[in-house]
Amino acid sequence: MPETVLQVDDLKTYFFTEAGVVRAVDGVSFSLTKGKPLGLVGESGSGKTVTALSVLGVVPRPGKIVSGKILFEGENLLEKTENEMRGFRGKRIGYVSQDPNSSLDPLFTVGNQLSEVVTTHEKMSKEAAREKVVDLLRLVRIAEPETRMRAYPHELSGGMRQRIAIARALASEPDLLIADEPTTNLDVTIQAQVLELLRALQRELDMSLILITHDMGIIAEMAEEVVVLYAGRVAEVARTAEIFAAPRHPYTAALLQAVPRVDRKRPLVPIGGNIPNLITPPSGCRFHPRCAYMIDRCVSEIPPLEAIGGGREVSCHRWKELELRGSS
Ligand SMILES: Nc1ncnc2c1ncn2[C@@H]1O[C@H](COP(=O)(O)OP(=O)(O)O)[C@@H](O)[C@H]1O
Ligand code: SF4
Ligand SMILES: [Mg+2]
Repeated sequence: MPETVLQVDDLKTYFFTEAGVVRAVDGVSFSLTKGKPLGLVGESGSGKTVTALSVLGVVPRPGKIVSGKILFEGENLLEKTENEMRGFRGKRIGYVSQDPNSSLDPLFTVGNQLSEVVTTHEKMSKEAAREKVVDLLRLVRIAEPETRMRAYPHELSGGMRQRIAIARALASEPDLLIADEPTTNLDVTIQAQVLELLRALQRELDMSLILITHDMGIIAEMAEEVVVLYAGRVAEVARTAEIFAAPRHPYTAALLQAVPRVDRKRPLVPIGGNIPNLITPPSGCRFHPRCAYMIDRCVSEIPPLEAIGGGREVSCHRWKELELRGSS
């Protein structure tokens, strides 16, 4: 039996704002097999980051995890104290955000900040810490690590900074790495290099990885399994190859039609309409105002997330009868 590293079960994380309760994550469930790369995909505002922050136990005010379970290696993180959570976050669960500047301190050299991280996880001599930092920089394919260690973050390119942020997240040899849109702020060619690096590291280190993105093209390159989020709920879960060949949820199909592809024979079709307001989300299926296949039942009844065989799950009243187009 493959081991499960993370199981998120009916997670609800809401923001209690003056304008009302934002149901950002509203009953999200998925699990991740140890040593595998999982993609979490959805348009901006679908609850990807809030899901990640919930796992890390750092949901900002006025947000709060309202209910659910987050089992990490069998332990429910929602029952941990803040002090206990510090033993998970940044140690057993690494995090890389879309903004490398937020994880690097501009006032310290790369070498200083990496050795600080290395020594908080493990007592060691200065010399041993230095060696470990050099190893980490080599791990993320930084040439001339001894020279780079003396640089300040602002002296490095965006791609290089993101590599350092990855090195920092890997310093404690975490069991799980969550990378939240790690290449969004980078140039296209650099994006490809950073993604390639993450994919290679995932394989080399046998690392469990959650890769968050709004881009199905990145999912195709990076993930073995995909969880598609829409407006705070799971639309569909499947193996990557299967979801590209035969999506079962109209939203997944729409996301696939919106992926730019060089070899594309059909035109790109953007998804019409906007992601809904999560204070007063649409009734029934949250996708119904944008769905080409909507029927009355979609407005009145929430479609449950249903296991449909082969490890696939879908939440659509009409999945059986629809014949949706894949990406070919
Ligand atoms: N601090 C906050 N206060 C109020 N609402 C928030 C806050 N942070 C996120 N949200 C809301 O939660 C929803 C999900 O956001 P997020 O997880 O950041 O989306 P994604 O990462 O998929 O783009 C959005 O509707 C967003 O407006
Ligand atoms: S439940 Fe209805 S509205 Fe929702 S995706 Fe399925 S067909 Fe579309
Ligand atoms: Mg986000």
